[in-house]
Amino acid sequence: MKSELLKVLRQADDYVSGQQLCSRFGVSRTAVWKAIRQLQEAGYEIDAVNNRGYRFLSAPDLLTPEEIRSRLHTGFMGQNCICLESVDSTNNYVKKLAEDGAEEGTLVLAEEQTGGKGRRGRVWETPKGKNIAMSLLLRPKIHPAHASQLTLLMAMAVGEAIRSCTGLEAGIKWPNDVVVNGRKICGILTEMNTEVDYINYVVIGTGINVNQQEFPEELREIAGSLRQNLGKETGRAAIVAAGMDELERLYDIFRKTEDLSALKDDYNRCCVNRGHGIRVMERGEAYTGTTEGINDHGELVVRKDSGEEVLVYAGEVSVRGLYGYT
Ligand code: BTN
Repeated sequence: MKSELLKVLRQADDYVSGQQLCSRFGVSRTAVWKAIRQLQEAGYEIDAVNNRGYRFLSAPDLLTPEEIRSRLHTGFMGQNCICLESVDSTNNYVKKLAEDGAEEGTLVLAEEQTGGKGRRGRVWETPKGKNIAMSLLLRPKIHPAHASQLTLLMAMAVGEAIRSCTGLEAGIKWPNDVVVNGRKICGILTEMNTEVDYINYVVIGTGINVNQQEFPEELREIAGSLRQNLGKETGRAAIVAAGMDELERLYDIFRKTEDLSALKDDYNRCCVNRGHGIRVMERGEAYTGTTEGINDHGELVVRKDSGEEVLVYAGEVSVRGLYGYT
């Protein structure tokens, strides 16, 4: 009831009477009052006035199932939501849940990761209480060869969530880093368990630097946070929920064709590599060229300086701007 209660109060412009809440949830006035007290104790500011009812004032920056669910507009993504204080890696946690039969759309978040994983065996730091570390379980009925495109969908969804929640101009560095002002704000690691022609499950792990202010020396030129760009802290739950809303919308479109044909124009509009010189490093070989973006399968279409057109697959490839990270 608490997430529904929050949703009703948050969406109302004015006070909502105790009676309205009682009838809506089919509970007593005491039960409503108790739930309100618990929310206030958890840090929510809710004004309670005799004869008028309750009015939502503000929410703490909490990652709780109630806070996230009360902001979601999805059918299934994130509806089963688990929030942990500390875990080695949310991806590992969701993989175990998946093995035990957890439902599609299950979302796990952690305030801290002690063994966060990045792409290509790198470490991903998640300092306590500052950022978003989340992993989503999907069970798409698509061919395993198409699953890596889901990572691009998540990058699009996070980009949109950042734009709508903060107004910042978030773009995508191919294939799936979300960037703001040339710095990486979000990284995505997708892991899956498949048969030859069947996907058991996909785990999309997403790390978003929200309120972190300092980065280790070696990352300072590459990584950034929303806090650094906004000059103030920003709420994490709103970004999580907006990301889930958008991802579910994109996922519905993707599943119809099992490719990015209906989404690539939107992706390419956000792609910061488009129209710029890039350096591609692939199995020890490096070359430079330009790109106009991805094709229907999420491959980067690169025109080499020699004039030859090549398709670049994500994976063991590194794409950089000619003069820096993007
Ligand atoms: C990258 O290297 O860019 C990918 C980083 C992915 C980090 C996220 S944080 C949540 C999830 N759990 C992990 O261990 N990794 C991903």
